[in-house]
Amino acid sequence: MQICVIGSGYVGLVTAAVFADMGNHINCVDIDSAKIESLNNGIMPIYEPGLEGMVKRNVKEKRICFSTDVGSAIGEAELVFICVGTPPKEEGETDLSYVEGAAKTIAANLDNYKIIVNKSTVPVGTGELVKRVINENKKNGAEFDVVSNPEFLREGQAIGDALNPDRIIIGAPSKKVAMKLIELYATIGAPVIVTDVPSAELIKYASNSFLAMKISFINSIADICESAGANVIDVAKGLGLDKRIGSQFLSAGLGYGGSCFPKDVVSLIHTSKKHGVDFDLLKNVVKINESRVKKFTDRIEERFGSLDGVTIAMLGLAFKPDTDDMREAKSIEVVKRLQDKGAQIRAYDPVATENAKKIMPDITYCKSPYEAAEGASAIVIITEWREFRLLDMDRLKDAMVSPVIFDGRNLYDPDRKKGIGFEYYSIGRPDVKGQIRV
Ligand code: UGA
Repeated sequence: MQICVIGSGYVGLVTAAVFADMGNHINCVDIDSAKIESLNNGIMPIYEPGLEGMVKRNVKEKRICFSTDVGSAIGEAELVFICVGTPPKEEGETDLSYVEGAAKTIAANLDNYKIIVNKSTVPVGTGELVKRVINENKKNGAEFDVVSNPEFLREGQAIGDALNPDRIIIGAPSKKVAMKLIELYATIGAPVIVTDVPSAELIKYASNSFLAMKISFINSIADICESAGANVIDVAKGLGLDKRIGSQFLSAGLGYGGSCFPKDVVSLIHTSKKHGVDFDLLKNVVKINESRVKKFTDRIEERFGSLDGVTIAMLGLAFKPDTDDMREAKSIEVVKRLQDKGAQIRAYDPVATENAKKIMPDITYCKSPYEAAEGASAIVIITEWREFRLLDMDRLKDAMVSPVIFDGRNLYDPDRKKGIGFEYYSIGRPDVKGQIRV
């Protein structure tokens, strides 16, 4: 199929690459000419495992091209995917100006029938808005249909998620229109739900909000574990083995961050209010999430009495592993709180350092966990990168002033840390105190 993808951000780029790999011809367009130039030079704007190879392969096979020429890309396409950003406004409402902009551009270039597919995460009712904007701005009688086909990919695993989704959601105005999308996804082999546009739009927000709710739930259970002497890892295991609950997204920690959950949960609260529903449950999901970092940093302060002049080694800055994305990363809030208490931060992240520097220019960036640990009184783990699992603990201990770890992601087994002489504090598990043998 001939497809135009508007927007070369996370969703747009991965969607374009995967569709091309499936044998379609993709024109991926963006108004950001610098980004398009980089892509044409083979430079990816984001770090995503497997993306670069897939893009380069399909560029070589002439199945994907990048340009700013939105007009011709739309003109040639049967399907036009809207994959633009939907950032939050002040009050948490979703800013749909980029979606509206894309709809106007489509209207200006609509000269024959096309299916307009919305992949951006948008509040229920946006399909109608896109339809209205195109109808108000089109230059001729060309017809079109608007479909909602939300994306469920996770950063860091985006290619795998796009190729092996749990389900494909198609919200279409008719079976005939839905068939075109079913045909597009035919080789994927995942269950397909065909529904109306508003239901598809709501499925996306309901999914992200439900997952965020699971995280806040297990974080509250972790708080009880800490007080009651229980172990949240075992509780989550026992809970998750109930098939009705499921074991994923039950890792207690510093709470959810990133470019999706924080904004999507707040957006659904906003949408529910608009529809006369008081979604108190979700408001508490947000409240619990917002309390995590304070609790964590208070604990660090409590351990040292004062953090004034104390050096802290921070391992991990990205909002989660396998990404360089710093949006709503917990590291930003942890750094701010520790700095406000007078601490000096030495940080290491395998890939997010350059992005972190733009947000936090006043911390010391290091080239390895061992360099970060030099002269530190404590290590603070913020992101569960795989490489942190197998660190040389003796080397770290030798570099530090005192062997103390605050683990915000439950990376280690407390008993093992005890064995090698670390004082170890994690989330929802018994503390290992007084083990310092320096
Ligand atoms: C999320 C969803 O998982 C995707 O399905 C969805 O497509 C995407 O948002 C989106 O709307 O575009 P993503 O933001 O990439 O994907 O990251 P997740 O892997 O879901 O993690 C989100 C946050 O939750 C991270 O900060 C992570 O550390 C945290 N988390 C996750 C936990 O604290 N505990 C867990 O058990 C799982």
